Amino acid sequence: MTSLAAFQTIPGAPLRGFFFRAIRLKYVTAPLSALGSKINGGRYNAVGAFEVYYLAPNAEVALRETQAVDPSGVLYVNASEMAWVASLSDTPKEADLAGMDLGHRRYTEYCVACHGLERKGLPAGGIPSLVDVGKRMRREEVFNQITTGKKMMPGFTTLSKADKDAIVGYLFGDGAVAGAAAPADAPPRIPYRFNGYNRWVDNRGYPAISPPWGSLSAIDLNTGEYLWKVTLGEFKELTAKGIPPTGAENYGGPVATAGNLLFIGATKDGMFRAFDKRTGKVLWQTALPASAFATPSTYMVNGRQYVVIACGGAKVGTAPGDSYVAFALP
Ligand code: HEC
Repeated sequence: MTSLAAFQTIPGAPLRGFFFRAIRLKYVTAPLSALGSKINGGRYNAVGAFEVYYLAPNAEVALRETQAVDPSGVLYVNASEMAWVASLSDTPKEADLAGMDLGHRRYTEYCVACHGLERKGLPAGGIPSLVDVGKRMRREEVFNQITTGKKMMPGFTTLSKADKDAIVGYLFGDGAVAGAAAPADAPPRIPYRFNGYNRWVDNRGYPAISPPWGSLSAIDLNTGEYLWKVTLGEFKELTAKGIPPTGAENYGGPVATAGNLLFIGATKDGMFRAFDKRTGKVLWQTALPASAFATPSTYMVNGRQYVVIACGGAKVGTAPGDSYVAFALP
């Protein structure tokens, strides 16, 4: 876990506080130092099953995505503050698996950690229910997704065709395929497994921490000081109740123009916003056809400047889309 502080060359500047502020919120059930030694250099199978609640202000993630830096040395960075639950659990023991048919067995071994024993997933956290998957997807699609994975779902490249067919059969409610014991040359059983990246949300799907949940900041790289910091994104139903905009989980960076504008989509609320890059004030916003988890681009045609953004949606539970939208600057 690297903090921004590792890249911070000016000691004591406020950038350093970014990561540690989250830890001070005390949602972490163990001191991070203890957690570090428990994880044991990433060798999960060397430790017992445990669960930890942690906060990931995605500043590092954001910095890996495109961010805008002005020639004057101002960095514009958007960040999400989302709580995650990381956990290990015991892998099922051979005795529990022995009585199951093949599809049920492989599902229990490979899919239960995320999609759950009852196949209900955790829709608020972005893990779909598989209860009626046959109504939404064809068998081949499910088969292929098991191999390739998708977004937060890992691919299972080592499963045989027979195993995948059996899992698909299990999900589509086919009759039982005869069970199969572990083959003699099966790799040794790993006693614990990682339960995936699960958002820690309340029963309505909001992050289980106090806002802000998403922010946009201007940081002067010459001094390390914040010039301004504002929330990015909102939940309209909360704003309607008089709650100040909370910010929302966001992916995709901003683009800065010479005319002092900062354009950014990135939020779950599907808006595209123009900020005054000197003050952080929203100057203009519009609803996109789908959330744009992408960085805008700007270009010029016949002396007129445009800004364009890809609206793909289909992340963090938003509806999918497939359009590019370009706006002409006044
Ligand atoms: C680490 C957690 C994780 C594991 C393990 C996992 N999945 Fe998923 N699965 C997800 C997530 C997250 C999605 C949603 C992906 C997206 O955003 O499109 C998903 C989506 C799916 C979908 C698409 C459902 C829909 O309605 O779009 C299917 C089918 C599926 N998983 C089957 C499986 C099967 C079968 C296994 C076991 C072989 C499995 N998954 C293991 C996390 C997981």
